[in-house]
Amino acid sequence: MGLLEGYFRSVMVGLVLYLLLRLILSCLILPILVYRKIRKNGFGGPTPRFPLGNIREMKVDTKIINNDASSSLAISHNIHSIVFPYFARWQKSHGQVFVYWLGKEPFLYIAEPEFLKKMSSRVHGNKWGKPNVFKHDRKPMFGSGLVMVEGDDWVRHRHVINPAFSPPNLKVMASLLLEPATKMLERWTTLINSGKPEMDVEKEISSMTGEIIARATFGLRNEKGSEVFEKLRAMQSTLFNSNRYVGVPFSHWICSKKNLEAKKLGKEIDQLLWSIIKDWDGSHHRYLVGYLMEGERLSAREIVDECKTFFFGAHETTAMALTWTLLLLAIYPQWQIQLREEIRQVIGDGEDIAFTTMGWVMNEVLRVYSSAPNAQRQARQDIKVDDLLIPNGTNMWIDIVSMHHDPTIWGDEANEFRPERFKDDHLYGGCKHKMEFLPFGFGGRMCIGKNFAIMEYKVVLILMLTRFSFSLSPTYRHSPSIFISLRPRYGLPLIVQPL
Ligand code: HEM
Repeated sequence: MGLLEGYFRSVMVGLVLYLLLRLILSCLILPILVYRKIRKNGFGGPTPRFPLGNIREMKVDTKIINNDASSSLAISHNIHSIVFPYFARWQKSHGQVFVYWLGKEPFLYIAEPEFLKKMSSRVHGNKWGKPNVFKHDRKPMFGSGLVMVEGDDWVRHRHVINPAFSPPNLKVMASLLLEPATKMLERWTTLINSGKPEMDVEKEISSMTGEIIARATFGLRNEKGSEVFEKLRAMQSTLFNSNRYVGVPFSHWICSKKNLEAKKLGKEIDQLLWSIIKDWDGSHHRYLVGYLMEGERLSAREIVDECKTFFFGAHETTAMALTWTLLLLAIYPQWQIQLREEIRQVIGDGEDIAFTTMGWVMNEVLRVYSSAPNAQRQARQDIKVDDLLIPNGTNMWIDIVSMHHDPTIWGDEANEFRPERFKDDHLYGGCKHKMEFLPFGFGGRMCIGKNFAIMEYKVVLILMLTRFSFSLSPTYRHSPSIFISLRPRYGLPLIVQPL
């Protein structure tokens, strides 16, 4: 018995020592070795403290800014140091390309267009990866949908989905927008008539774009669409309101309650979507799911994941583009007048819709308040940029907000809302570098829904501006914040008046 006990004890001690060694190896030794290699490769950056990397100072900076924002009433469009205070601070000492650490994961931070151009010209769309560390974190949301998938699978998914956004199909889908948009405007009229002209238009617009994407995906008008939508929103807030430690070893266990909640919601959403998909008779090509099912090129799992990707990728980005537009139109009513005048002219002349001024406004809104504030990549091969080597496996964080607000590229008025900058250069707004304006991303992985988004934006804005005028409520608090997309933290209360 004593012998057996002794043997058992030494096995336990051995096991504990082994686990301790692995812990020290993964939390300290390996990250330090990678850190040294990165510095040798020529990249600077803030000093990490393992196992958290730079997470602690990022959280401190964010907390300070959030406290300031809740007491400040001023509206400034100079938002980079508000939404990414730590990047703004690190840029001052390390420039626009440096390495920072989320736990033991190094991220190459990029806010320099020339560096981005050189780097992306060396890599095809199918050779880019998406950070593995986020794949795990965002699995319940996107699974293996287009946003996350890589390599030959990405090419296959993109081929299946592309025809859904072809110009003829977009025309068909335009009719699907009208009912949810009109329903929202009728609700506004009812609210105004009952003496409540002040409303949170962010909430209103978000649920309308959710309904639009449910229609475009499935043709749904019923509760199942809104149930999926509600659960997706709950999952987003579970994942992004939690105290996250992405990249920190064993962090899945630290935040396990939140992760379990997200997983549970993810499963419920999958089941709901599957119950809709399996009853789909495949005959209605005009809906997105019809394209996904064609030719059985995607598995059942992949179809569900693509539907989730549409819901997430499509509804919030477009909702935020419209929301920030209404904020800016409320602050600068002269642009409301100009847009109404353009709508009157185009509709009056019965000409094919160009809406040039609206295009400038949309571009300028997406520049100043970019719905997609960053893009992420992971190198799946060594990449050489001048004399710097980005090793295979390096994560990258491309700071779109910084590039859209850089005065060296956009001039002294970089932080002002000036749609007319797109008058003579409607694609790039006269900026000095073509990789500086990236509202829909870049390269092969550019947004697949761009044309759908532009159409939805214009149709909804026309409907809103021809019925109502908008002014800012005194209760509005300006606090743009990141919640995957760029959102007004406290919503957008506006006073809405019928014309
Ligand atoms: C104003 C609205 C929108 C904005 C600002 C926007 C922005 C973006 C950006 C910046 C990317 C690239 C992300 C990256 O490089 O990692 C992207 C990708 C994507 N977007 Fe959008 N988007 C919008 C609307 C939509 C809509 C309406 C849909 C679908 C109906 C959609 C579906 C997607 C998908 C599936 C991808 C992944 C493409 C790929 O990796 O191949 N987006 N979007």
